[in-house]
Amino acid sequence: MTTETRAEADPINEQQLNELVETSLVDLGATVHAALAVIGDELNLYTTLDDAGPLTSTEVAEKTDTAERYVREWLRSQAAGGYVTYDPETDRYDLSPEQAYVLANRESPVFMPGAFQLVTSVAKIEPDLTEAFRTGEGIGWHEHDEDVFHGTERFFGPSYGAFLLDWIEALDGVDPALKVGGRIADIGCGHGAPTIRMAEAYPDSRVVGIDYHEASIAVARERAEAANVADRVDFEVATAREYNGTDYDLVTMFNCFHDMGDPVGVAAHVRETLTDDGAWMIVEPYAEDDVEDNLTPFGRLAYAISTVACTPNSLSQDVGYGLGAQAGEEQTRDVVTEGGFTRFRRAAETPTSLVFEAKP
Ligand SMILES: C[S@@+](CC[C@H](N)C(=O)[O-])C[C@H]1O[C@@H](n2cnc3c(N)ncnc32)[C@H](O)[C@@H]1O
Repeated sequence: MTTETRAEADPINEQQLNELVETSLVDLGATVHAALAVIGDELNLYTTLDDAGPLTSTEVAEKTDTAERYVREWLRSQAAGGYVTYDPETDRYDLSPEQAYVLANRESPVFMPGAFQLVTSVAKIEPDLTEAFRTGEGIGWHEHDEDVFHGTERFFGPSYGAFLLDWIEALDGVDPALKVGGRIADIGCGHGAPTIRMAEAYPDSRVVGIDYHEASIAVARERAEAANVADRVDFEVATAREYNGTDYDLVTMFNCFHDMGDPVGVAAHVRETLTDDGAWMIVEPYAEDDVEDNLTPFGRLAYAISTVACTPNSLSQDVGYGLGAQAGEEQTRDVVTEGGFTRFRRAAETPTSLVFEAKP
């Protein structure tokens, strides 16, 4: 009987080993960078470089009222990662137009500091998550650090500003109905970024934002006041399976359908609350149907967030379906039609979003 070990039978390929170590180095730098990007946003380091660059580290520190020695080290790490441009001739730092669009322009659809805020804060539950892997128990959205809710709003908000109205126009007959005054329910609305965008776009329609998380609804109400749309938006604390109201022309769910514990039950309830020719718009993270086709940089991010936030939330609720944030079109269609909808199609997409229309 041979006692060949796994290592003898399957020896290490040196090139593949080096590549994996290199990948780990990049990831390690990126992991620390995430917190530094949050700091750069919070202390206006990026916006100051954008407004006044090229600047020395002393000038950045003076303009932002921060300590130069920290800022100098921060700038060098940013330059090493390609997030800031460094000129060795003048020892000055600056943002290129592309770096500014991603890091300093808070309205840009690809503004990333909000996403860094989300990923740094969502990882804070790591000890609870490790335990949840052992027990299979869920962790509710409300159990996360407050920065998760703010990071989510800042991550998704600008893309809703850029694309949401195109998505509604891609639905069958919904935009004309809302223009003359319709009823919209935005389920799992969080801080209300998409809810308020729709209220601004359709002043003759009534919008209700619904979320089970009371603290998020309180912030959403403040946001609606600040945006001067509080006269046409209501917010309600309720679950997606039990919210009030009927005869909605449009029900929306932005990046939260896969978070639901009972997505089939949610689909059945949405169907009951729509008018006969109403539409349900489901916006989900972009995904292909087969796992191997989602093994991409975006798929990695979505699976990772799904592991720390979306799937635990679903598992914390009744049924605990655990659809996951990379379910893709086929699985989503199955769940929606099981809930009673007879028509389902992909109405629009972006590189990071799939937009589905379901009709009774
Ligand atoms: C990823 S966030 C998306 C928030 C918002 N739609 C957006 O795009 O900015 C998911 C939201 O779903 C809410 N949620 C999770 N489960 C829910 C349920 N069963 N009923 C209602 N809301 C729920 C959470 O509280 C959270 O606000």
